[in-house]
Formats: sequence, structure tokens, C-alpha cells
Amino acid sequence: MSTVTNIESVLQEKRIFPPPPEFSAKAHIQSEAELERLRAEAHADPEAFWARMAEELHWFKKWDTVLKWDPPHAEWFGGGLINISYNCLDRHLSTWRRNKAALIWEGEPGETRTYTYQQLHTEVCKFANVLKHAGVMRGDRVALYMPLIPELAISMLACARIGATHSVVFGGFSSAALIDRINDASCKVVVTADGGWRRGKEVKLKAAVDEAVKETPSVTACIVVRRTGSQQEMQDGRDFWWHDLMETVETDCAAEELDSEHPLYILYTSGTTGKPKGILHTTAGYLLQAHLTTKWVFDLKDEDLYWCTADIGWVTGHSYVVYGPLSNGATVLMYEGAPNFPEPDRFWSMIEKHRVNIFYTAPTAIRAFIKWGDSWPLKHDLSSLRLLGTVGEPINPEAWMWYHRTIGKERCPIVDTWWQTETGAIMITPIPGATPTKPGSGTKPFPGIEPDIMTREGKSVGPNEGGYLVLKRPWPSMLRTIWGDDERYKQQYWSQIDGIYFAGDGARRDPDGYFWIMGRIDDVINVSGHRLGTAEIESALVSHATVAEAAVVARPDELKGSGIVAFVTLEGSHSPSEALNQELRAHVVKEIGALARPDEIRFTDALPKTRSGKIMRRLLREIATSGTVAGDVTTLEDFSVLEKLRAEEE
Ligand code: PRX
Repeated sequence: MSTVTNIESVLQEKRIFPPPPEFSAKAHIQSEAELERLRAEAHADPEAFWARMAEELHWFKKWDTVLKWDPPHAEWFGGGLINISYNCLDRHLSTWRRNKAALIWEGEPGETRTYTYQQLHTEVCKFANVLKHAGVMRGDRVALYMPLIPELAISMLACARIGATHSVVFGGFSSAALIDRINDASCKVVVTADGGWRRGKEVKLKAAVDEAVKETPSVTACIVVRRTGSQQEMQDGRDFWWHDLMETVETDCAAEELDSEHPLYILYTSGTTGKPKGILHTTAGYLLQAHLTTKWVFDLKDEDLYWCTADIGWVTGHSYVVYGPLSNGATVLMYEGAPNFPEPDRFWSMIEKHRVNIFYTAPTAIRAFIKWGDSWPLKHDLSSLRLLGTVGEPINPEAWMWYHRTIGKERCPIVDTWWQTETGAIMITPIPGATPTKPGSGTKPFPGIEPDIMTREGKSVGPNEGGYLVLKRPWPSMLRTIWGDDERYKQQYWSQIDGIYFAGDGARRDPDGYFWIMGRIDDVINVSGHRLGTAEIESALVSHATVAEAAVVARPDELKGSGIVAFVTLEGSHSPSEALNQELRAHVVKEIGALARPDEIRFTDALPKTRSGKIMRRLLREIATSGTVAGDVTTLEDFSVLEKLRAEEE
């Protein structure tokens, strides 16, 4: 599947799937007309709409103003006092949900643990006290580098409870990447585990933390969950076992009354230039939109078992494994490991075993399931499912149809949800009881969200014309800034088209007003639904002693969406070899993590540049994809470079 054919097949897409009437009859939002009324209400007076919705949350003190918009800085629910941990836990304790399962967790080896809301509350209070004893105060940052285990959710909720700002770092990132993230936010404490299980192997986390903390002066303590039981070196006075600390603390810890705009978390994501950006989310607005989208988009009911397969290291896990579902009082299934361990039917066997009702996963996973063959899902009873979702990248219509037929048995609506780390919550999406879906389209905006498609000059384009996806109005769960770099925040998101949020995606809108996302239009690569900046991979390569210059581009990939191709020029005294090729790929893994490993490295004498010295990535993309260059080359400084690259291809 190339991006180009994807867009073409999308253009031909005529199929339309109305919501099943029996689904709509029981849904929170039951018809298109009802949804349109909500959209119209929100459009006419967005502040009144969001304020009405905010009544669903628990407030210690209600807000004075709904929105203060001083572009590009927003303050939502100013004057309000609130706590997310309280909203996700305490408020359920005075209801029948007290003894309802909040989390059902399954480890990769197969063991399970269940926490009721009451039990989760106790664990969170205890860990909040542990953090306080470790000297963590309101406003301090805590790094969480953990497998997908309940203690990760507990740590997040404990931070939120005392007003500490968490920074979850995906367990697949290397220690070098962890160093940058800890230092950027000056984290005081790191919470980790000995390791986690992935495809039967231990992913060693504590060892990576040991490496990292040599270079992170802000860290005073490291708290370690015993997960795998592997041997660990615990440094006296710095390293503590989670289970030891949890034994010594009180079981109660009042939730702090925090300002609406109190920093809740930082989550790093890749951008077009330089190092990853620390996206900052704050409390009340984030919670409101995570809460409301979970309820409406997943049509969440109390009796549902809800499973979002995302790792909590990504924003999807923050909003749709932890905060959104728990604030709705849902029962969340969490799974630690790989979808194909021990066999490629792990997900389907878990759906059958736990009787999962709502299933939210990524197109890259769906493409892998298709490749592994229908026999795996067909072996299992999937009749408990009533709703399916996807997120992370465009889903090609054929993968959508497979999901619809083979998993949903043509019975379950599919919600294809577009959003970003920066948006904090779902922005463009079907509402399953109301929106007729078209395979490959995220359909229409959530009420209160105002996307558009524009030219670089800020002019809206007509139906079926491609352009830049933008958001014209502030929304409650929007990022507030880039941690420590407000200039970059302004420049990156709000100045490409003055005063309008620039998402970095290309899109078009069809004559029915449905949005079709075409993918990133900047130097960000979406590999298996994970964002990587070409600049980051390039700087990892250039940090190797043999490399003079590197340019990284995406190449369409059947399974991962995009593969990574690196063009590398070597320092004079070095020459290309297979050994060096392997070494450079391993070097990128060490600097960033396995997800950034280039699929291919091409050694070249020179890179194609413009007269002003800018690398012409577009040409490299063409060469990496088709082997030739058909596009405009008039700005190229040295044509012989192109000839050489073509020759190297042959
Ligand atoms: O390119 C879009 C793609 O993923 C990007 C956001 O990545 P990230 O911040 O890592 O968050 C992923 C999970 C929310 C977007 O700019 N993307 C996300 N969802 C979709 C999508 N592309 C098409 N369709 C989607 N449903």
C-alpha cells in the first residue's frame, strides 16, 4: 500500500455503513439529528456547551470563567478547583461502583489481577504517600518508565492526586532517550520496574534506568516494581522496592484541590526539528474532553468491558486506558504484552475469555492480523464485541472492511478516531449510534471542535481539494505549551497560518463534509502509529563517529504504514560495509529505541541539496519509494548527485 494508492482508493470509496438500528436504540447519542443539534449548540456558543458538559465532573470549586483565550494561550475553567484522581476514583466510591472492577489486567505470561474502584483507590492513596515521603511536592515532575502493568496507572493517578506532573516514557525507548526526557523536565523521582514481558522475553527497564541516572542530576530516588523477578542491583539510598515502600505508608491520602490549569502531565512527541517536544497537558479541560469523548465515541455503558490496546507510553494510553475510562467509572482491560504471543490469536483469545465489548486498536495491528490470516480470529467466539475503534494513522479501506467483516461480523460500528498527542483527546470521529461511516474516513468533528482544510495562505479549500488540516478554535484538552519552550509552541503550531492551529496533517473533505486524513505533510514519520521525527533519527546517525551527514525519509510499508530509509554519507576515512550498516542501525536503537531502527541504510557520496544547502528530502523520498525522480528538480544544486543516487539504486 503506497500513500498515493491509499489516497486514490479512498477517493473511489463509495461504501457507506449506517449505524445498526439496534445499536442506535441504546446509544448515548441515538441519531444524526441529535448529534447535529449538539454540534449546532456547541458551534453557536462553545463556552456554554463546554460549561454544560463540565457539570458532569466533580469540582471542589466551580470555575469563574470558562475560557480565557489569549492566542495561542488558553486558560479553561479559570478559578475552578479540581482533582483528576478524585474524579477517576473517589467519586465512584459513594456509588454502587465502589466494588465494580476498575482494572482487569492480564500479564503476557497469562496471570490476571483485578482491582475494584475501592482497591485501586487504596493503592493510589498509598503510592501518593510514598511519593510524598520521597520528597515529591505539588508541581514536581516524576518520570514513569514502566511496562504495561497496573502500577503504571496507579503511579499516574498518585501523581495527579498530589499535584505532581508525570512524564511517562515508553518502555521501548532506550536509556539515551530516557536521559533527554528526564533532564528536559528535571524529574525528581523515576518509577520503573525490573522489567516487563514482551514476546516471552524480558525487556530490562531498571538496567536502562541505571544507565540513565548517571546523567540525570535531578533524580533523587528510583522506585522499582518487582515484575519479572530478575536479579537487580539496588543502589543504597537511591533505589527502593515499590513493595517495601507500600508497606510502610498510610492507606489514606486526600486529593489536593488543584487549579484547573495545574500541569497534569508532560508527554514527549516527535516534531520536525531537533529534540522531542514535551507536550504539556493541564487538568480540568483535559479531563473534560477525555471524559466526554470516551463516553460518546465509545458509547460507554456501565456493564461494558472496554479494551484499548495502546501502551500507556503513548497519549492514547493516557486518555483512553486511564483517565477517560476511569472518570466514567468503566471497567478497563489492560494487557501487558504482544498481540502474537504465544500465538497470533492472543487478542482474540482474550476477547473471548474476558468477553470484551469495546475494542480500540491501531491500523498497523489490523494489517498484521490480516497478514497472519483469518484462521486466528475465526477460532474464537467474538460475539461479545459491540463496538470497534482505530487510531494512530489512516486506515486503508480494505483493512477497514476486514475489521468490519472478520472481527465485527458486520454487526459492530467502527469508530476511526483522528487526534494527536497535542490535541489530548479525540477530535474527528464517528459517533457510533449516529454517524454513517465510510471506510477510511474519520467522518466529522466531535461537537465543539472546528477543523478546516486550508491552503498555506489560510484560505479554506473546496470539497475534495487537498490541503492542511487545521483547528480554528481552542478546545479544552489542547496542549498548553511545549515544556520549557513556549517560542517553539507558538512557532510550530500557531504561526504557520496565523492564529490557527496547524496539525501537520494533510486532508480533504468530501462533498458530505467527511474528513479524509492523508497523513503527515511534515518531516514526521508515522511508523506503526508511532511518531518519529526524521531530524531525531538523523542526529542519532550523525552522532556516530563514522557518519558525516544523514537524511532520513519514509517509504510506504505494507505493515507499518511507513518504513525508515536513511541516506548516509561517511567521513572521508571510512567506507561502506555490511558491518557498518548493521552497526549504524544498532546505534539508532541505542540512541532512541528499537522503534526507530532504519529499515534500510543507503551509503552515498553526497546528498541532494538546494543552492541554500537544504537537503531535498522530497527527492530522497522518491528514490526510496520508486527508485526514480519524476518531480521538479530545478532547485537542485548539483545534478550529478541525483545521477549517482540513481546509479546506486540500480
Ligand atoms: O498523522 C496523524 C495520525 O497520527 C498523528 C498523531 O500522532 P500521535 O501524536 O502519536 O497520536 C497518535 C494517537 C492519537 C496525527 O497527526 N493519526 C492519528 N489518528 C489518525 C491519524 N491519521 C489518520 N486517521 C486517524 N484516525
